[in-house]
Amino acid sequence: MAEKILVVDDDLDSLKLIGLMLQRNGYEVSAASAGSQAIAKASAERPDLIILDVMMPDMSGLEVCRRLRKNPDTKSIPIIMFTAKTLIDDKVAGFEAGADDYLTKPTHPAELASRVKAMIGRNTTPSKPSASGVKGATIGVLGVKGGVGTSTIAINVAAARHMAGDTPILTDIRPGIGSSGLALGLGKASGIANILSKPVEEIRPKLIESEIAVHSSGLRTLLSSPQPKDAAIQYSPEAVLTLIRTLRTMGKPVVVDLGSGLSPLISRVQQEMDHLIVVIDPIAVTLNMARELLFELDKSRTDASKTHVVVVNRAASSTPPSWSEVEQTLGHEIRAIIALASELALHAQQQHIPIVTYQTTAIASSQMIKLSDEIAARIRMPAGEIPAN
Ligand SMILES: Nc1ncnc2c1ncn2[C@@H]1O[C@H](COP(=O)(O)OP(=O)(O)OP(=O)(O)O)[C@@H](O)[C@H]1O
Ligand SMILES: [Mg+2]
Repeated sequence: MAEKILVVDDDLDSLKLIGLMLQRNGYEVSAASAGSQAIAKASAERPDLIILDVMMPDMSGLEVCRRLRKNPDTKSIPIIMFTAKTLIDDKVAGFEAGADDYLTKPTHPAELASRVKAMIGRNTTPSKPSASGVKGATIGVLGVKGGVGTSTIAINVAAARHMAGDTPILTDIRPGIGSSGLALGLGKASGIANILSKPVEEIRPKLIESEIAVHSSGLRTLLSSPQPKDAAIQYSPEAVLTLIRTLRTMGKPVVVDLGSGLSPLISRVQQEMDHLIVVIDPIAVTLNMARELLFELDKSRTDASKTHVVVVNRAASSTPPSWSEVEQTLGHEIRAIIALASELALHAQQQHIPIVTYQTTAIASSQMIKLSDEIAARIRMPAGEIPAN
């Protein structure tokens, strides 16, 4: 049966246009040309998705969104805000009102189609295959040194999977020094310490589930606290490995922020990762450290189907010397370059929203989404077909 989409817009031309685009993609379309009508139709028809215009004369789309979120019948229907406004503040207001995604007019039909598909896929129950069908897998993110943006890449790779309709879990093995919970506005989330301080046999999905904190975007997280006392606890490698292996059955995929450097624990844990993203920045010292780290990682790699992907973060247009020279120094291909986007990173952090969710079309966002998609494609591939790197 075709999924039903409620399109809400006071402008009849755009109502027709969007309706037509959606019908061509095989969806059943219902239309409303005013906010009050949208609310009535949403609870009567329970559509699979609502595409909502922001500027309407009787009631703003933001208000419609807020009311839909308050009503138990309509609160879990995914909502895409659709508007001519492009200001960042409006996007934030949309997310705060409870929107799941945001599209600016005019939108390319292909973009509309892919967002709709991602959003409808996201709403499926976890037991159904997700939109892009990513299996349980672990993606580790390891920084060559502190501060290169490891947590930023981990958060955004996970957020991009979530936006694509997968059911990822973002985690970090950094008890006592976890900053991602704070960055995402989840407070002092101390889920990891609560789990790792239990005997290994108690580390089961049910316990883990009880510690998972859900970000306002819907992204599931299991994060470390920033409380120094948690760093002082001695966690057994066995407990950490049990946690990772159990998470693997729960998150599709699990994105693990491994912090920076290779402590004995992280050396062991990184071997559990199906895919490893090594984050560097384009500074000479980092590049030299990266060569050493990659050498160690290559030595410890036991399974050739496990990939190491090198990502350069915070690349400004003035920085690249010659990327091919850098690749030669590293002895590794650079798989992605993420632009320096200081203002965007700052704003997203102030709003506690991942960069890719905050401004999906920004250059740094597209680069991180592409990285996430590329790794997801590898996860979907049968092991034998994974290209060597
Ligand atoms: N591409 C980028 N452009 C601009 N700023 C960025 C970029 N990536 C990350 N940042 C910013 O750099 C700072 C450090 O990022 P992040 O916390 O992700 O680094 P980290 O490597 O995890 O640090 P730590 O070693 O403390 O865990 C943050 O303020 C973040 O917003
Ligand atoms: Mg970090």
